[in-house]
Amino acid sequence: MISSNDWFVDAYASLGFRASPFSVLALRADEMGQRLMVGRDAQIKEVAQRLLNHGKITCLDGHIGVGKTSLVNVAAYECFQAFLHGRTTQLLIPLDESFQLTKDENVEAFCANVFRKVANVLLARREHLVAYSLPGPGLQLVDAWLNSPVIQHLNASAGVGITFGAHSGDSTTGLGGNASAGRSSQINTGSGFAQEGLEHLVRDWLNQIFSVQGNGGVVCVIDNLELLESGAAARRTLEALRDRLFNVNGLRWVFCGANGVIHSLAASPRLASFLNTPIVEVGNIRSGFIKPLIEARLKEFLMDPAEVEKCLPLRLEDIEFLYQILNSNLRDLLGYVDSYCRHLVSIGKGDVHQDHKHARFKKWLDGETTESYSAISSRISKDAWAVLDIAMSDTFKGTFGVGDYGSFNSNSKIALSQTSFPKWLRDLERLGLLTQSIDDGSGEDDGFKRDVFTVTAKGALIHYARLIKNETQSLLAPVEWLKRVHTRNA
Ligand SMILES: Nc1ncnc2c1ncn2[C@@H]1O[C@H](COP(=O)(O)OP(=O)(O)O)[C@@H](O)[C@H]1O
Ligand SMILES: [Mg+2]
Repeated sequence: MISSNDWFVDAYASLGFRASPFSVLALRADEMGQRLMVGRDAQIKEVAQRLLNHGKITCLDGHIGVGKTSLVNVAAYECFQAFLHGRTTQLLIPLDESFQLTKDENVEAFCANVFRKVANVLLARREHLVAYSLPGPGLQLVDAWLNSPVIQHLNASAGVGITFGAHSGDSTTGLGGNASAGRSSQINTGSGFAQEGLEHLVRDWLNQIFSVQGNGGVVCVIDNLELLESGAAARRTLEALRDRLFNVNGLRWVFCGANGVIHSLAASPRLASFLNTPIVEVGNIRSGFIKPLIEARLKEFLMDPAEVEKCLPLRLEDIEFLYQILNSNLRDLLGYVDSYCRHLVSIGKGDVHQDHKHARFKKWLDGETTESYSAISSRISKDAWAVLDIAMSDTFKGTFGVGDYGSFNSNSKIALSQTSFPKWLRDLERLGLLTQSIDDGSGEDDGFKRDVFTVTAKGALIHYARLIKNETQSLLAPVEWLKRVHTRNA
C-alpha cells in the first residue's frame, strides 16, 4: 500500500520550483524565451539582420543541441518586438512551431500545413495587424476574413483557439508523408473550403499585409534537416518545395540543420541562389556563460528566488564542469542535470546541504563515468578505445568523417589499421558512444562529406572516465584542457 502521496508531487515542486528549470526544449519566440537566452548577443543580431534582409533563406548549421532553434526563435521575437516599438518598419511575425520534413514527405500535405499555421498566426496576431497602420486594403481583407463564414464556422466548432485542422501538441510537427493529414481538416468537411482556397486566401492576406515587398513576413523555420539523413534527400525535398513556398511574398524562411546538411544544400544549383550565404555557423556556448544561463533559469522558475543556494541540489560549478566534459553540448547538459535532480528527489535526497553537494555530485558522476566505463571497457578492443580518445581530442572535438582516418593515425602513438578503422567505428556506435549522422548512399558527387560521426554524451563521459583512469596514452597530444578542468574540480 502507498503510505504517502509524495509521488504525485513533481520532483521540482518538492525542490521549490514552479516547473523544471532544465527543460531540453528549445527556447520559444516569446518573452520567456528572451529572458532565458544567454550568451548569444552577437548571433541574435546576426540572425535578426538576416531575417530582416528579405528575399533569401536564412541558414543555420551547428551540432544537435547547441541552440539553433532557440537562437532563431528569440531572434525572430526580437524582430517582432522591434517593430512593435517602432525600431524597424518591417513586421516579422514568429510562428510558435517549426516545421520538420521527413524522408518521403508529401509536398501537398506539407504546403497545406504551412498555410494553415500561417493563417493561425495571422489570426492570433490580428490586434497588431490592426494597431500598426498596415495598408488599408489589407485591414479590410483581414476584417472580411475574420467575419467570413469559414472563420465563423471554425469559431463555432473549435472555440476561441482557432485551428484550421488538427495538429499535434508537439513543438515541431512533421507530416510523415501522410497525404490525407491536411485534407481531413474541418475546413473541408465543415464548410467545403478547399485546401487550394485556403492557400489562395492566405497568399492574398500576406500580399495585403506585406503589400510592399520586403516590409515583413511570417518567419517559417524548417528544423532538424539532418533528420533526412542524407544531404541528397534534403536537397531533393527542398527543391520540390522551392517554387511552392520559398518565394511566397510575406513568408521568411529559415533552415536549421546539423552535421553539414545545410552545406550540402548550398551545393545544389537549384537552391544555392535562394540561400543567404555564408551559412550562420552556430558553435557551442562558451563555458563561462553556463553559470549565468542556469541562474536565469533558476530565477525564472524558483518559487522564492532568494532560495537559489538552498533549492538547487548541486553547485553551479559542478554544472559548468559537467558541460565541459559533455563536450559542451547544452541540451545534453540540461538533460543530465535534470536526471540528476530527479534522481536525488526519487531517493529522498533532494535537500542536500551546501557542504555535501559536491561530494554527492561526484559520487553520481563516478557512476556515469568510471562505473559505466568498467562495465563496457572489455567489450571492444584497445584500438577502438584509442579511436574514441582521438575523436575527442582538440583536432576533432567530437566530430569527424570516415575519411579522417589518416589524421587519426597521425594523432595516435599506436599504429591504427586502416582496414579495421570502420569496424572500430561500428563497435563504438554499437555501444552508443558514437552516432553516425549522414550516410548518403546516392553516390552523387557534390563535395559533401559523407559518413559524419559524432561522439555522443555517453561517449564524452566514457572518454572522461578513460582520461581520469589514465588510459588515454595513445593520444599524441593529451587533452590538456580537460586535465586542467579535472584537476580544478577534483
Ligand atoms: N542561448 C541559450 N540560452 C539558454 N538556453 C539555451 C540557449 N540556447 C539553447 N538553449 C537550451 O538548450 C537546449 C537546446 O537548444 P535547441 O535550440 O533546441 O538546440 P538545437 O536546435 O541546436 O538542437 C534547449 O533546452 C534550449 O532551451
Ligand atoms: Mg532544433
